[in-house]
Amino acid sequence: MRHVIVTGGGTGIGRAVGAWFADHGDDVTILGRRADVLKRTADEIGATAVVCDLSAPQQIESALEQLPERIDVLVNNAGGNANVPQLDAHDDLTPLAQIAQGWRDNFDANVLTAVLATSALEKRLQDDGRVITIGSIAARTGAGSYGAAKAAIEAWNVTIAAEFGARGITANVVAPGLIVETEFFRGRLSQERRDRLVAATRTGRAGTPEDVAAVVGFLASPAARHVTSQVVHVDGGAYSGL
Ligand SMILES: NC(=O)c1ccc[n+]([C@@H]2O[C@H](COP(=O)([O-])OP(=O)(O)OC[C@H]3O[C@@H](n4cnc5c(N)ncnc54)[C@H](OP(=O)(O)O)[C@@H]3O)[C@@H](O)[C@H]2O)c1
Repeated sequence: MRHVIVTGGGTGIGRAVGAWFADHGDDVTILGRRADVLKRTADEIGATAVVCDLSAPQQIESALEQLPERIDVLVNNAGGNANVPQLDAHDDLTPLAQIAQGWRDNFDANVLTAVLATSALEKRLQDDGRVITIGSIAARTGAGSYGAAKAAIEAWNVTIAAEFGARGITANVVAPGLIVETEFFRGRLSQERRDRLVAATRTGRAGTPEDVAAVVGFLASPAARHVTSQVVHVDGGAYSGL
C-alpha cells in the first residue's frame, strides 16, 4: 500500500486527488488549515486529516509526528490566488504596502506551501517516489502575483527533479486551466468570465477536479517513471504556447 500526502485536500482539486488515491487502495493523508472542512472530507473519502498551515514552518514541524514515516507520493496542491478573498483585506495599508502584501500573500500561499512541505518530508520520500505540484496556466498567461508565484513553482520543480532523480523520484507540475467545483474563485466567478475562459479551450468546456486527479494519478504510477521535470497542462488546450 502506498502512503500518499495531499496538501489542501479538504476541497476542490485536492479532495478529488485524495479520493482518487483512496479509491485505488492507497493510504491517504490530507492537510489543510480548516479542521472542520478537512475532517468532513477525510470521513467521506476514507483519508486521515492533519490540520496544518503549510506556509508556517513551525506548524509543519509540529505536524510531522502525525504524518507517515514512509511517503510514496507527495501532492503539493495547497494554494490559490490569495488576493481573491482579500480584495478589501489590507485597507489599513498604503497603496504601495498593499501591493507588497498581495505579492507576499501569493508567494506564501503557492510557493512556500510546496517548498516547505517538500523540504520537511524529503527524507521520508521513498526511492521511486513521486512529487507532484499543482501549478497553473497562469504561470504562462499572467494573473500578476498569482501567476508569478506559479511560475516560481515551475523553476523550483526543475531543481528538485534534478536533486531527487538519482533515487528514481520524479517531480512534475500539473498546471490546470479553469477548474470548476472548487473554492478557488470564492463565489466571485462571473458568468461572463467563465464563458470567456471556456471559449479559450479547444474542448469547449470547463475542467473538473477529476480531470486533474486522473493526470496526477498517472504521474504517480510506475508507468510514468521516465516523466520528470515537466509541466503538464490540464486545461483543454487553453494555453497552447503559441
Ligand atoms: N480552480 C482552478 O481553476 C485552478 C486553476 C489553476 C490552478 N489551480 C490550483 O489548484 C490548487 C487547488 O485549488 P482549488 O482550485 O481546488 O481551490 P480550493 O478549493 O480553494 O482548494 C485549495 C485548498 O488549499 C488549502 N490551503 C490553502 N492555503 C493553505 C495553507 N497555507 N496551508 C494548508 N492548506 C492550504 C485550502 O484549505 P484551507 O483554506 O482549509 O487551508 C483548500 O482546501 C491550487 O494550488 C490552485 O492554485 C486551481
